[in-house]
Amino acid sequence: MVDRPSFWLDEGSIQLLDQRVLPLNTFIITAETIPEQVEAISTLAVRGAPAIGTFGALSLALSINRGEDEKAAYQQLHGSRPTAVDLSNCLNIVMGVYRSDGDEACLEAALGLMEDTIRSCRKIGEHGRYLIGNNSRIMTHCNAGALATLDWGTALSPIRVRAREGGSPFVWVSETRPLLQGSRLTAWELLNEGIDHRIVVDGSAGHLMSKDEVDLVIVGSDRVAANGDIANKIGTLEKAVLAREFGIPFYVAFPKTTIDPECPSGDRIPIEVRSDLEITSIHGSRIAPEGSGAYGPAFDVTPSGYITGYITEDGVLSKDELVSSIKK
Ligand code: MRU
Repeated sequence: MVDRPSFWLDEGSIQLLDQRVLPLNTFIITAETIPEQVEAISTLAVRGAPAIGTFGALSLALSINRGEDEKAAYQQLHGSRPTAVDLSNCLNIVMGVYRSDGDEACLEAALGLMEDTIRSCRKIGEHGRYLIGNNSRIMTHCNAGALATLDWGTALSPIRVRAREGGSPFVWVSETRPLLQGSRLTAWELLNEGIDHRIVVDGSAGHLMSKDEVDLVIVGSDRVAANGDIANKIGTLEKAVLAREFGIPFYVAFPKTTIDPECPSGDRIPIEVRSDLEITSIHGSRIAPEGSGAYGPAFDVTPSGYITGYITEDGVLSKDELVSSIKK
């Protein structure tokens, strides 16, 4: 177990827990230059919407401090992953501070964003814990935990808070093919925290829900459109549709940095398509026949109609409350 946030500032460079190799290896790596930081984001050494947003902000602030071309740094970081809007939101905040207050204020702004994210995630937990009974069985997908957010997590935060209060939540961890963020990262976090859980294959959601084994679903998000549609890890939509079919509440947890007020609806959210090698190979070993192609959209969009409520730092909101708060 590593008692640290997912990344931190260390004398002008960023140290991060390499999420590509967890849980078998706990490697701390250094990302010092913009190309190293872009690589860390695009290869998922650092991942999860709020984590890449704040990591991007810190990378940009450090580049500005080094006197580098801020526009080039912004563009490279901005292009490193397309779906999680936290990245552009956080980069825009640092650019705004640079334009209004100059280079010296940028690092403080980036560190402030990191603190705000941790505070928001903690609040998400405090609001969301009321949705979780003493022995609730929660299904989650991908990793929306401390690794994805610096600390606490989004979807995992209410579960964490409930467990720390003495509750005994149980978590169905969807393994999350192809990169296994569920079975590698969410399971690792829950194990470290002593929270009871079982890893299940992605295709088992319908079976478990039909057998009355799931009380609620909580997932994170990479982008929330102005009409309440959300993008999250591929496979989220299936769980939402199944939850509706079996009358199970489906909640989405996220901080404000994940909202894209400029995006009117989910069909306008850019969906990252990743290398087919992530599907046809595991840890570099080919598992599919040579010659078979693959197709790897990394996210899907869940329309707001499937979502029971939105767990935010301001409380658990209905769709109407969320949409009107975005308009404001
Ligand atoms: O491709 P990833 O691992 O970055 O995808 C992450 C997710 O889909 C998370 O659920 C999302 O970023 C919310 S994290 C708090």
